Amino acid sequence: MKHLTSLLDLTPDELVAILDRATELKAKFRKGDRPQLYPGRVLAQLFEKPSLRTRNSFEAAMIHLGGSGIFLTTAEAGLNGRESLPDIARVLSSFSDIITMRTFSQRLIEDVARHSSCPVINGLSDERHPCQALTDLLTLRETFDRLQDLHLVFVGDGNNVSMSLAIASAMTGMKFTLAAPHGFEFDPSFMKLLTQRYPRHKVGQCNNPREAVKNADAVYTDVWASMGQEDDADRRKKAFADFQVNESLMQAAPKSARFMHDLPAKRGLEVTDDVMDGDQSIVFQQAENRMHLAKGLFVWLLENK
Ligand code: CP
Ligand code: NVA
Repeated sequence: MKHLTSLLDLTPDELVAILDRATELKAKFRKGDRPQLYPGRVLAQLFEKPSLRTRNSFEAAMIHLGGSGIFLTTAEAGLNGRESLPDIARVLSSFSDIITMRTFSQRLIEDVARHSSCPVINGLSDERHPCQALTDLLTLRETFDRLQDLHLVFVGDGNNVSMSLAIASAMTGMKFTLAAPHGFEFDPSFMKLLTQRYPRHKVGQCNNPREAVKNADAVYTDVWASMGQEDDADRRKKAFADFQVNESLMQAAPKSARFMHDLPAKRGLEVTDDVMDGDQSIVFQQAENRMHLAKGLFVWLLENK
């Protein structure tokens, strides 16, 4: 049985198989076909943080496939000490077919996966956001018809989203550059892990966004302060002031470059309205694709159970 706690749980071939499933189900959905592959199946969602895209795209995907979803917060699940984590995982998985989780701690998701009798999917932790990165690969593949050798430039924080995109790039032969202010780059331990697993990766870092986007196929950004970092938002706003993705920065990139954002966006901070709503933006294609990717992932996981 497979889990998706991080993209590192997958092989590159498995990753492509999930994208292919998503592409196939998206084409069907476009024709009005919602194959009822999983009537009566239950998706349990355990979320410690808010979510529009992840929670609802997961639930919609399961409903489209014929199943349904139940939703639990930290307190409802008893994660506040009401009972032990292994007991929660064993009980919840005994009446669910898939568990999705959104937590602060990455370790918590891995611990639930260890004790669960059904597949566990990471729907974002402080360290990883694998479903977002898989979705972004799907969106890039739709846009450019390939992944190999594309150059994805992430202007912003070395956070959960950029780390997962760096792993996704290493797994698919893409070039990835993180342009971050000093002190907000990837942790050396993350780079070490990536190099251990994918020694030939083309993941680099710099502190100059204009230089970084020069030969970008896609320019990506995310919020400067992630969920849980609200108290640090003012310091981050100052540190990231020169890292806003605006018209001037997009003009330093090739005209063919696309703009990407996982959303939610703080318009006027990390990105301006004209870029978000401009011709180069594919942010709403990304958001829609969360649902198609979720379907592809569910089908792949349940077929491999
Ligand atoms: N991109 C993303 O994960 O959005 P939500 O936080 O709304 O789920
Ligand atoms: N880095 C952001 C992503 C939100 C989808 C956060 O963790 O809040």
